[in-house]
Amino acid sequence: MKTLKDFNFKGKNVLLRADLNSDVKNGRVLMSERIKESARTIDYLKGKKAKVVVIAHQGTPGKDDFVSLKQHAQLLNRFTKIKFVNEVIGKKTENAIENLKNGESILLENIRFEEDEFMPEKEGNRLLNLVELCDIYVNDAFSVCHRKQTSIVLFPKYIKSCAGLLLEKEVNALKKIKIKDCLYVLGGAKPEDSIRLLKGNKVLACGLFGQCCLINKGKSLGEQDRYLREQKAFVEISKDKLKNVETPVDFAVKVNNKRKELKLDEFPNKYEIFDIGSKTIDKYVNEIKKAKAIYMKGPCGDANEKGFEKGTFSILKAIAKSKAYSVIGGGHLSDAIEASGINKKKFGHISLSGGALLNYVAGEKLPGLEALG
Ligand code: 3PG
Repeated sequence: MKTLKDFNFKGKNVLLRADLNSDVKNGRVLMSERIKESARTIDYLKGKKAKVVVIAHQGTPGKDDFVSLKQHAQLLNRFTKIKFVNEVIGKKTENAIENLKNGESILLENIRFEEDEFMPEKEGNRLLNLVELCDIYVNDAFSVCHRKQTSIVLFPKYIKSCAGLLLEKEVNALKKIKIKDCLYVLGGAKPEDSIRLLKGNKVLACGLFGQCCLINKGKSLGEQDRYLREQKAFVEISKDKLKNVETPVDFAVKVNNKRKELKLDEFPNKYEIFDIGSKTIDKYVNEIKKAKAIYMKGPCGDANEKGFEKGTFSILKAIAKSKAYSVIGGGHLSDAIEASGINKKKFGHISLSGGALLNYVAGEKLPGLEALG
């Protein structure tokens, strides 16, 4: 895989696929590590006197977070000067690219506003116009590399291409993780994703996933069972997949707005679960001490809720203390690390990817990386 060091960018039109996808609250795009980190790659290319054309997506069609990239341009401008062009392909884009001077950059509109983004195999894909206007394609969006989408898999077939700073950093960090010996700490709110990792490695299950595992082992959690099903978060898992999965032995529930810990045999009951309990923390910390490599996905409970951050913070602290090489995945855990005050340097790698990282750890090939060669 070629990197930025392999090219002379001076005077070249560079098509940079970044991942700026961030949380959107009431129509407002929130600042994110992705935006900050992408600005570094843009700056690097500007420093090399490239003419930088940035493409990126935000959200998914049909969802509330499917919005324009105008605000992303404003947020990027806090770190590097960039002009927003409110279309993906057309006259405005052509003119903006033509008028770019060395060391300048533009951000085009949300690439997913063009339906051809979802049809890389379509004959006469309109997005190929962008490739015609550029000399080099740079993929800096590791977190989108699990998607077979035009700006990820098709563009590198047409022009010289390489990895950007962020993508290179993610791939190099992940190469160090010995997946065979890896202990998985699987939490978070999307239990269905975690099932793909139940292939024999030892797993410490927490978050909604931990509760699903327990229910699949035959334990009833009462009110929490109902909640999981109502949220469509319950997943069926076959018994043979649960062989190497450790499950919680106690939980924290909310009584009078305070944390109260209950042993497993005190369930089923009327309470919703907000965190793993202290005995589970101790049990998991012992496993973490023995691990050679650790991948953690998603928080252990509701880490944003006062009193219920204990499980997530304690497990993160134990990982930070352990000698194992660790990879921490997804935005919510990096927020938790920030909030806990744990030194980020104590982790092997804190990834900005969710789905792409999970696919990688599950041993699946990422189409975006394949396309870069
Ligand atoms: C992510 O947020 O994981 C990436 O930006 C990919 O986004 P997607 O899941 O909407 O494809």
